[in-house]
Amino acid sequence: MRRTAVVTAGTGGIGLETALGLAAAGLAVTVVGRDAERGARAVERINATAPAHPARFLAADLASLDAVRALADRITADGPLTVLVNNVGAMFPDRRDSVDGIEATFAVNHLSPYLLTELLLPALRAGAPSRVVNVTSGATALAKRVFDAVEPPGGYYGFHWYGRAKLANLAYALDLAARLDDTGVSVFAADPGGAATGMTDGTMRDPSIVSPGLRLLWPLVRRKFERSTSGPASVAARSSVFAATDDSLAGRTGVVIGPGVRPVAAYRPAADPRVAEAVRRLSERLAPAVAG
Ligand SMILES: NC(=O)c1ccc[n+]([C@@H]2O[C@H](COP(=O)([O-])OP(=O)(O)OC[C@H]3O[C@@H](n4cnc5c(N)ncnc54)[C@H](OP(=O)(O)O)[C@@H]3O)[C@@H](O)[C@H]2O)c1
Repeated sequence: MRRTAVVTAGTGGIGLETALGLAAAGLAVTVVGRDAERGARAVERINATAPAHPARFLAADLASLDAVRALADRITADGPLTVLVNNVGAMFPDRRDSVDGIEATFAVNHLSPYLLTELLLPALRAGAPSRVVNVTSGATALAKRVFDAVEPPGGYYGFHWYGRAKLANLAYALDLAARLDDTGVSVFAADPGGAATGMTDGTMRDPSIVSPGLRLLWPLVRRKFERSTSGPASVAARSSVFAATDDSLAGRTGVVIGPGVRPVAAYRPAADPRVAEAVRRLSERLAPAVAG
């Protein structure tokens, strides 16, 4: 059977490097992004290095739930799916809403991958043994762990809200792994560590992105951030490629692959059933995986 993969935000940064790794492993890769020119360049690059299974680009703004639904329909129409890498992620210096009127950090980092995954489950089941990989982040450790509403209490601090959305996405991955046990669909999370990409370039220039407490330590925080995000995206992509393809993970699920490209313990709050339940309730309410 032809093995297929979808990488969201796969036309640049860590996603493109992930797509290159999956193509080299013999998968026919679909990369998703907004910009058609960037998409064409990505496909060209993938096909130049791994021409055996031609790649393709699908355009979708993953900040829009309608766009996610249309993307899922398009992918489902192609038949079984072997790998879904939920790589899209974004951090915003100022609070903003998505086109659906939902706070954008939560919409892009959690609701969009949540909805895409739920809608692609039939294709993933048909493609089993298949894998879902959610790209996570060390920023989860600085997150508020309350999920009774989209926005946490207190002020907007982009880095912490990003970490909280990533925490929701990690909790969802672990919850989904348990839900899909014995279906042949495995669910992993992959932490890329850090890399110099469009996302990290510029987001930590202003101390307002972190909480007032951390602002007091701003020079230290900024230096640490710059150091940890100075490496190449090709290295950061290894955890996702490993999670999506490595034989040592066959038959396993609910595993987190760390920046060192090996299984690590899941960040404990993400495995808390109360967090999982609150995330599930919020996600089902805001992004129902059924029509209407
Ligand atoms: N970089 C790091 O240090 C780091 C650390 C920890 C975790 N991560 C995680 O790793 C993943 C990749 O991060 P990255 O640094 O590679 O990000 P990035 O450089 O911002 O990613 C660029 C890619 O994202 C696409 N993209 C952005 N917004 C999109 C949207 N709304 N809809 C569709 N595509 C969109 C871009 O395509 P278009 O411009 O064509 O839309 C492009 O393909 C994210 O989940 C991030 O949270 C990154």
